Parts: sequence; C-alpha cells; structure tokens
Amino acid sequence: MEDTSFAILPENKKHGSKVNYQSLGTVKSYNIENNAVVFQCDNGYVSILFYRDDIVRIIMNHKGRPSYQSSFAVVGEREQIKPHITEGEKELRVASEKLTLVIKRDQVSISIFDHHKKLLVKDDHVGMGFNDKNEVICYKQMDAEDHFYGFGEKTSFLDKRGEKMTMWNTDVYAPHNPEIDSLYQSIPYFMTVRNGKAHGIYFDNTFKTVFDMKTSDDTYSFSAEGGQLDYYVFAGPSPKEVVAQFSELTGKMPLPPKWALGYHQSRYSYETEEEVRDVVNTFKEKDIPLDAIYLDLHYMNGYRVFTFDEGRFPNPKKLLHDLKNQGVRVVPIVDPGVKVDPEYNIYQEGVRNDQFCKYIEGDIYTGDVWPGESAFPDFTNSEVRRWWGKNHQFYSDLGIEGIWNDMNEPAVFNETKTMDIKVMHDNDGDPKTHRELHNLYGLLMGEATYEGMKNHLKGNRPFLLTRAGFAGVQRYAAVWTGDNRSFWEHLQMAIPMCMNLGISGVPFCGPDVGGFAHDSNGQLLARWTQFGTFTPFFRNHSELNSIHQEPWMFGEKYEAVVKKYIQERYVWLPYLYTLFQEASVTGEPVMRPLVLEYPNDKNTFNLSDQFLIGADVLVAPITTPDTYHRVVYLPEGNWVNYWTEVKLEGGKHHLVQAALDILPIFVKEGSILTHGTVKSSTEAKETELKVHIYVTDEEKSTFTYYEDDGKSFEYERGSFYQCRFEAKLEKNRLDILTHVEHDEYQPEWKNAVFVIHGIVEDLEVFVNGNVQNNSKRLADNKLEVKLGRNEF
Ligand code: GLC
Repeated sequence: MEDTSFAILPENKKHGSKVNYQSLGTVKSYNIENNAVVFQCDNGYVSILFYRDDIVRIIMNHKGRPSYQSSFAVVGEREQIKPHITEGEKELRVASEKLTLVIKRDQVSISIFDHHKKLLVKDDHVGMGFNDKNEVICYKQMDAEDHFYGFGEKTSFLDKRGEKMTMWNTDVYAPHNPEIDSLYQSIPYFMTVRNGKAHGIYFDNTFKTVFDMKTSDDTYSFSAEGGQLDYYVFAGPSPKEVVAQFSELTGKMPLPPKWALGYHQSRYSYETEEEVRDVVNTFKEKDIPLDAIYLDLHYMNGYRVFTFDEGRFPNPKKLLHDLKNQGVRVVPIVDPGVKVDPEYNIYQEGVRNDQFCKYIEGDIYTGDVWPGESAFPDFTNSEVRRWWGKNHQFYSDLGIEGIWNDMNEPAVFNETKTMDIKVMHDNDGDPKTHRELHNLYGLLMGEATYEGMKNHLKGNRPFLLTRAGFAGVQRYAAVWTGDNRSFWEHLQMAIPMCMNLGISGVPFCGPDVGGFAHDSNGQLLARWTQFGTFTPFFRNHSELNSIHQEPWMFGEKYEAVVKKYIQERYVWLPYLYTLFQEASVTGEPVMRPLVLEYPNDKNTFNLSDQFLIGADVLVAPITTPDTYHRVVYLPEGNWVNYWTEVKLEGGKHHLVQAALDILPIFVKEGSILTHGTVKSSTEAKETELKVHIYVTDEEKSTFTYYEDDGKSFEYERGSFYQCRFEAKLEKNRLDILTHVEHDEYQPEWKNAVFVIHGIVEDLEVFVNGNVQNNSKRLADNKLEVKLGRNEF
C-alpha cells in the first residue's frame, strides 16, 4: 500500500518524531594526557588532540573517558603536537600553529578558527549531544555561503546543501534517484567551500550515520546511532588541500596497473568460454581496443566462489593464457557469500576454522544470496582476511590479476537487504555487532582481497574493483557505482556522483557505461562511452535480461563513435596515468568538479554536468537524447576547443556544437598535455609521446610527465621516469625545456613530438636552447617538432 497514494492519507501523517538531544553541560575541569586536552563536563567528556597542525580530532563520550581507538578507515599517523592552552574566565583556547579551538565553559561548545582568525566551524544548538538511545549528534552553524561536497557515493547534484544523507551500505538494485540517500558506499566525510576557502569534516563512526544539511537554513548536523562522537576537522584552506588532508588520514590509492586504466568490457554474463572468446575476437576483428573482460556469476560452479563451472569453462588456464596473448586480462566476480554445502571445501574450511560470522550464541549466520543459503566470512578478523586472501591463489594460479568484489555491503536477499544486525563480529577479540560494523564489511573484504592478490602476484600490481566500501576504500580498490540503468538521467547523475567520490578520497571510480539494467540504445551508448573516455574507471557492463551493448550492437553509425572514443582513451592514457600517479601521492582526484580548481567562482558551485580532468582539461558530455549542442561554462582564462582549435574566452557560458561524434573538450591555454597513440591494449608498446603545448605569452607553462613499467612495484624502489616540460613564449620565440627529473626507467617511446597549438606569426621554436629548423606546419595553426628522447 505504501506504493500508492494511500501513503499520503491524512491519517497516515507521521508525527515529527523529534529526538531530543542533551548537551554535555558545563566544563568542570580539564587535564592533558599524551598531548590531548580532556575536558570533564557535567554529562561526559570531550577530548581534543591535533593529528597535525592542520587536522584536529575531537571526541565526545557521554559515558566515560574517550577512547582513542580509531576505525579501520584511519591509517594516518598522529604527529605529537603540543597544544597551546590559554585560559580565560568564560572560555579556553587550545591551539596548534594552524588551528585555534575556543571552548566555552558553560554549555560546552567549540568554535574552530584558522590561523587568520577566520571562523571555520562553530557548534550550534546543543552542540555535541546525546540521547537516551545512546545516539550522538553534532550541530554546527551553517553559513549562507556554505556549499557542501563529498559524502562519497550519492545521487542528486554536486552541491549537497539542502540534502539529508544516510550512510548505510545498501544494495540498491532500484531505484537510483534523489530519494535514495544510501547506496553501496559510506564515506562519512564532507568538505565545505565558503567564500573561496575550504575546510572539511570526517566523522569516524561506523554505525549508521546521518548528515543533515537540509532541515534548517542555518544549522547542519551529523549524527550516529551509537558509538562516540569522534570527528576530525581539516583546515584546508584550499579545496585540494582538504582532499589531501583527508587522504593523509584515510590513505591513498596505490598506483593501479596500467591495464586497469584501459577499456573494460563486461556483461552479466558472458556465459561460456566460447562466448568470451567470441567477444574478444570481435574486438580484435573490429580493431577496437580492449584491456579486460569480466566473468560474472556464470563462470562459477553453482555460484561457489573459487570454482569454475567445468561445463561452461572447461579450460580456464588456457583461456586466460590465450587472452593474455591477445592483450586482454580476465576479471572474475567474487562475492562474499559462501554456499552452505558440506561438500564444498571453502565452506568446510570456514566452518572448521571458525571463519564465518556468527550470533553471540554461537550459530553461524546464514542468508540467501546467489548460491542460495550462504555463510559470510567474518572479515573483521585479520586471520579470516588472510584465509580469504590465500584462497585467491586459485585465481592467480590461472593467470588472473584482477578481482571484482560485489554484494559486499553485504547484500542479502531479505527485507533489510543485509545481514542481521544482531550478528556479533569477533573483530580480533573485541566483539562488536553487525549494527556497529556493517559499513566496514566491504572495506575489510577489500583489504583481504587486495593483500591476498598482492602476495600471489609476486611483484605485479593487482587490480580490485568493489561495489561496497567505507572511507579509505581507495587503499584497496576502484569503485564502480553499482546497478544504474540505461537512462539518460543516470548518465547525468553519474557525473556529480563520480566528482563527489573523487572529493571523498576515491580517485578511481566510474559508472557502468551504457547503463546496467534496462535496455541501452545506440545514441545513449555513444554519449555514455564519450563520458567514459574520461571517467577514471571505464567499463561497459549490462544486465542479464537487457539488450547486449557491446560497442557494435547498435549498427555501424554508433559503433564508429564508440570505437573512436575507446581509441581516444588510449590517446589520453599518458596524461591520465600521470594524473593517477599524482593522485596516488597527494589524493587529489583525477576527475574534478570545477569548484575544486575555481572555488571563488560561483558558477562552479553546483556545476554538475561538466568536469575537469586534472587541472586543465574541461569535459562537457552530452547527456540528453537527440541533442547536438549544449551550454558550457568556461572559467577564467582562455580555453581551446580540442577538436577545432578555436579559442574561447573564459568567465562565460558558451553555446557549443556537438554532433554525435563530438564530445566537447576544452584545454586551458597555457597548459601542456602528454598523449600517446591508439593501441589495441595497454600491452602494446607506446611508440611515440606527443607533447601538446597550448601556447600563451602570459606565463610559463609546465607539466611533469610520469612513466614507469605500468605493472610492477619497482617504481617504489625508484624505477620510474619523470620529465618536466616547460614552455615559454616571448614575442615570436618559443622556448621548450625538457628537465629529466628522474630517469631510472626507460620509457618504451624513443621519440617525442611536440605539437604547438595556437602559434604566432614567424614562430621560432627552440628546444633546450637549440633552434628547430625541421618543424612542420599543420592545419589549424599548429606546428610539430620531432625530437629523440636522447636529446632531452
Ligand atoms: C549485482 C552487481 C552487478 C552484477 C550482478 C550479478 O547486481 O551490481 O554488477 O552483474 O550482481 O553478479
């Protein structure tokens, strides 16, 4: 009945179940323990400690002294920073070099200022509160100029002001729409951009949490069903610094193998070895690049993980071997549910060694998933994670280097969609209920899988894709955004969703290209593939009952466009790979909302249908049917149309044309980009590096290009190549400089071509001081100069 208008019958009105929270009362005393300032209040304790000068942790515990144990998300080491304390009659000040906290003595409340004395966050109402259900909350003042980003994987637009979001990992087959505020990932963190500056908050609480940026105009809150009110404030002051600070705390993405950045083809399912070979061969025949093909449920014997169905896949090792020779990797799905079957070795081992989630009374919890009744590994135990990781030798022995984790919210086919919250996780001897640890299940499975594969691959980088996760998921896996549909609306929604994931510390993410459920069509696939060229993760995936959506499924006209953009992905790889490397060091996302680079520009605050790749490339996908133009906002500076070389002035909206085969891309004048060539897969050699220089006479251009073997961890031991390109135009003289900053790895390409865009009359080009007489003039005001790498 809830699905009809009956739901809004006047008698059914739900009366506001406003929960009354209580504050901690007044500060009675304080003391310092291990550089943490602990305040004893009427109704509990508050502890303040600096992680770094620009990161402060605040813990409220109404039941007793605060616990300093963090969730599994936090990996950043705390620096020992001595707080400076100033006592006033009405308030106390606790300061680091970058942050000052003012604590009001009566009705304890905290205001936090940056080192310019600018207010960042201020408690409101009860400030830090709790209620008799042991729920905890923190109310903060909301400024009229506040805009909110992050929160992980959420539907709706970019700016989350006016949204209320719940963090509870949920398998949502449908619908994905603005009403659905919990999807597969929970990242209880956000960034506030206010008047061009940014700060952030991470709420380290694994219970179900709610972020309410909606109910009031001048207050927001974050609350949890239990646990401590334990949160961190990041000082910024730029949006990129906030992401870096959050990534310092929760970890960075390890540099993925290059093949993970190529184009991936998936389907639920390619059901037999023959079908898999056919699909790959069609890619080869049609000369469409491909780096990986996915095996969904059908590869297994009765959905038992760590098995192959011998009928459908009689010789997986040979299949893997042959595909690898074609430059294609195989990524099988691995779900956490282990079929209850006394004759199945994984189930036997799990039971014998006490590896499954159990009730406190000792019974193993079982729930229905794909294999039928299943048991679930208790990943909160490190021993279980090792066992699970070890089992992956089954895959690595076959030559598999990538794993796809699904259903790891964990999803269970029942009313609540998940495990009974009363299940007791052992948690390495510190038992906690599923109610408390639910949101960590996917993250812990990710750790188990990534570390296990890393061990087995003996020096090669594993690739892991996951549906569920928590803050820190980037340490182990790329994230795809789950079961979207072949709707234009879902193409639109994927843009802000991925941008906010990027702000939430997850640079490697992307949606199912073409849409998972429902039937795709040629135009939608073409436009979605154009977008996919620039999403960090690029995989076409579709559901069992839908029309197939491989690149050639909708006729030649669409195939040509899809192929062009898959090829384009490979052209852009040397630029993307450099951005991935930067992300693995700084946490800064590859795919960025414009507000990250232009936080003073109000036109960017809720700009949800265009994005940047790195700092200088602006992409504006077409997201509606039969549409061959759109409005693009270009921020300050001049921008060059990637396809036509036409220069447009920034700080304005422009109407741009976009025929079916055109994805509007704009490159900022003054930037340098590195491109490669079209290849059948990343296994093929890079023969030539193209260095595009978008000339300006206003400032020196620079770009630091990164390259390594793309496969191993040797880069951690210094085996990589890094070259800083610089370009400076003065009158008609262009000076290009190549500074090889690190050369312990020799890239495959031996020659570079400098493509100079927007040239002036009689341009003279010098590379490293030598005049280049062999430059070639191209159409559209471009010039090409070729040089051997040995001349760098
Ligand atoms: C879930 C996944 C989807 C997968 C399917 C079958 O719905 O989200 O990607 O294809 O399960 O394994």
